[in-house]
Amino acid sequence: MEDLLHSIEQKVKPLIGLGKVADYIPALANVDPNQFGIAIYSNDGELYYSGQANTEFSIQSISKVFSLTLAIKHYGDSMWQRVGREPSGNPFNSLVQLEYEAGVPRNPFINAGALVICDMNQSRFASPHYAMREFIRRLANNPELRSDKIVSDSEYEFRSRNASMAYLMKAFGNFENDVETVLHNYFDNCAMRMSCVDLAKAFSFLANRGFCQHTGEQVLSPKETMQVNGLLATSGLYDEAGNFAYRVGLPGKSGVGGGIVAIVPNRFSVCVWSPELNKSGNSLAGMAALEALSESIGWSIF
Ligand code: DON
Repeated sequence: MEDLLHSIEQKVKPLIGLGKVADYIPALANVDPNQFGIAIYSNDGELYYSGQANTEFSIQSISKVFSLTLAIKHYGDSMWQRVGREPSGNPFNSLVQLEYEAGVPRNPFINAGALVICDMNQSRFASPHYAMREFIRRLANNPELRSDKIVSDSEYEFRSRNASMAYLMKAFGNFENDVETVLHNYFDNCAMRMSCVDLAKAFSFLANRGFCQHTGEQVLSPKETMQVNGLLATSGLYDEAGNFAYRVGLPGKSGVGGGIVAIVPNRFSVCVWSPELNKSGNSLAGMAALEALSESIGWSIF
């Protein structure tokens, strides 16, 4: 497996230079674009990696899967009154549907949906970001993980679009808490720094019917796990979810830090990272690496 990951790394590295590092969050613009890492964590507890798989990066929207998981554990099916389960077909930070769909975001992974989920977790936890951080540290088996204050402060300073969404949802009665407080917690979650190895481990429960082998914790039930994987397959890559299904064929979640996590149900979780993004805000080399991986293992959920 490690040989395969090395050959994928060699194959996709020439793509670096064709994308663009996210710069709408100024603190993210300084990252060295010439980086690539990939890590696989199998249901047997085996770890395989290549490249800069132990280098931490900003997980950004990948954090939305952890906040959704926390919300499901507490709210169960009642949460779906406040957020939908359909792909949006629009960019992750789009506002257009929110107005004519009465403040109910299409899915939990676009920014508006993730903000509603953070609002739910705000109602439940005294310190929602710390609850998230502890949860992630446990899942990744890494007590050192933390949020990057420079990045979260930069996101807060340039929060206008996210703040607009949250206030619009508040106007529609779909936001319970103080918007600015929820925004702070949302940005602190997005600014968590993790490596490919950390993320492959932290997502392993989704490949393993909800069971996290290194903590012995049943994080979600097998049914909830299939449901989350279904949402990842349909909405995890925003307006590129169709292309991701076509090219890779796995449930996945991307972030503008350049990470993409994908799940091979009942086998392994994989995280790939390269900071340059394509037009939909997904890692360009990361997409190509996952495409090469699913082709090599000859397997997709379809
Ligand atoms: O709120 C934002 O725009 C960022 N904190 C997260 C966006 C993101 O990662 C979209 N993913 N590809």
